[in-house]
Amino acid sequence: MVLSKMSSQSDVSVHSTFASRYVRESLPRYRMPETSIPKDAAFQIINDELMLDGRPRLNLASFVTTWMEPECDKLIMDSLNKNYVDMDEYPVTTELQNRCVNMIAHLFNAPLGESEAAVGVGTVGSSEAIMLAGLAFKRKWQNKRKALGLPTDNPNIVTGANVQVCWEKFARYFEVELKEVKLTEGYYVMDPEKAVEMVDENTICVAAILGSTLNGEFEDVKKLNDLLTEKNRATGWDTPIHVDAASGGFIAPFLWPELEWDFRLPLVKSINVSGHKYGLVYAGVGWAIWRSKDDLPDELIFHINYLGADQPTFTLNFSKGSSQIIAQYYQLIRLGHEGYRNVMENCHENAMFLREGLEKTGRFEIVSKEIGVPLVAFSLKDNSQHDEFQIAEMLRTYGWIVPAYTMPADAQHITVLRVVIREDFSRTLAERLVLDVSKVLHELDTLPVRLHGKVAVVEEEAAAAAVVVAAGEGGSGAVNGTFLKKTEIETQREIMIYWKNFVANKKKLKNNKNTIC
Ligand SMILES: Cc1ncc(COP(=O)(O)O)c(C=O)c1O
Repeated sequence: MVLSKMSSQSDVSVHSTFASRYVRESLPRYRMPETSIPKDAAFQIINDELMLDGRPRLNLASFVTTWMEPECDKLIMDSLNKNYVDMDEYPVTTELQNRCVNMIAHLFNAPLGESEAAVGVGTVGSSEAIMLAGLAFKRKWQNKRKALGLPTDNPNIVTGANVQVCWEKFARYFEVELKEVKLTEGYYVMDPEKAVEMVDENTICVAAILGSTLNGEFEDVKKLNDLLTEKNRATGWDTPIHVDAASGGFIAPFLWPELEWDFRLPLVKSINVSGHKYGLVYAGVGWAIWRSKDDLPDELIFHINYLGADQPTFTLNFSKGSSQIIAQYYQLIRLGHEGYRNVMENCHENAMFLREGLEKTGRFEIVSKEIGVPLVAFSLKDNSQHDEFQIAEMLRTYGWIVPAYTMPADAQHITVLRVVIREDFSRTLAERLVLDVSKVLHELDTLPVRLHGKVAVVEEEAAAAAVVVAAGEGGSGAVNGTFLKKTEIETQREIMIYWKNFVANKKKLKNNKNTIC
């Protein structure tokens, strides 16, 4: 977090339980302690606090890998102390990254000759890859405009309003206007026709997503390529396409190899993919791949020689760990095409199983597609009594982390829940989740009617007054002048529901841009 905030204003110490065997005094929470403590105590204190974090494998909010084989864990541990940037000292690690770049470029059908090397780089994730790809487009566009004596002060990029927040970051950090195609109810990806209409002479590229973060749907890159080719022909421009395949890049080639979305389409000049999503590596690796050398302007590549031989670098950061690159190489050779296909088929089947289970409740509208990232995004058919935020909150009590969020403009009135299916999400877990969702629905249904009535009224009231009513009455509430006894859990739920609605409304009002990954 950039702007840190204090989790506790009153308690400025970190207390420990079992660590009291080693230390008797509390540690200051927000100041570095004056003295050292034994290593066992430091371990125990941190370990105890971390127990309160969620359990990664039950975190169904994230695409990011939470399980790898113990053999790969060992390789990761053994390379934790290698700085990737010291390429002269660790030439084998550099060679492994180059092998990964080439394997992925071939997977994306880069037009490479038999012995031609692919153009690409390992990054910390798709966000960094997108910044690099965006910079390459911006620089190419500037160079071309300068050569023609045309102004270069107003570049823009065309995307759907469903883009991940990293595109907004790119636009703001690197001063490029983001022109977003708005969504509509029932259509939650970029419409290629509208996107091409928005393209003008200042458009550095159109970014299509292979696997929208919001509902997993693949955008129609082929149609975009065809329409843009026509527009380029008519105008004389050469607006290119970038594909943000953060999730889909490791899914489509194995499940739908015939789908044309990659370098088979001539206007696709660069592609990013997250190694740490369906590339099946823990957090910290992504890839940016260019179609050819011509698509990556030379002036963006820096050459350093103080670590040994001349080393080209094109990354935003300098130092970084080597483990994730090594882990990616492990997965690529360990699984091969066959292994990745098996994993993706399994994820897809589990997603279909979950989808059916949720449909059978009769309460949900499914907003994800069968072809796409293996996830299930769903909305309540009727959210007048209780909403998706309440379901997400109540699922937490069963240990599940399932996010609820509103869609971006112009579909911001639609709220969805999203369950991402990763390799480690088994059929048994899917069965369990369907059961728990049904229990949550039942619990919500059996809440006294007065609760829903009251929540609706409370929403109209000022926040502070309402909280006092909910908490201060200590377990009793009046309905039509009659006081009914509430159990403790009912009171807790009432407060929770109030706050969920309050926060949800604030969120809806404030900003509809999702920051989910
Ligand atoms: C479509 C898309 N693009 C980019 C990103 C950012 O990826 P990373 O977390 O690898 O930086 C995400 C993250 O979920 C995503 O879904």
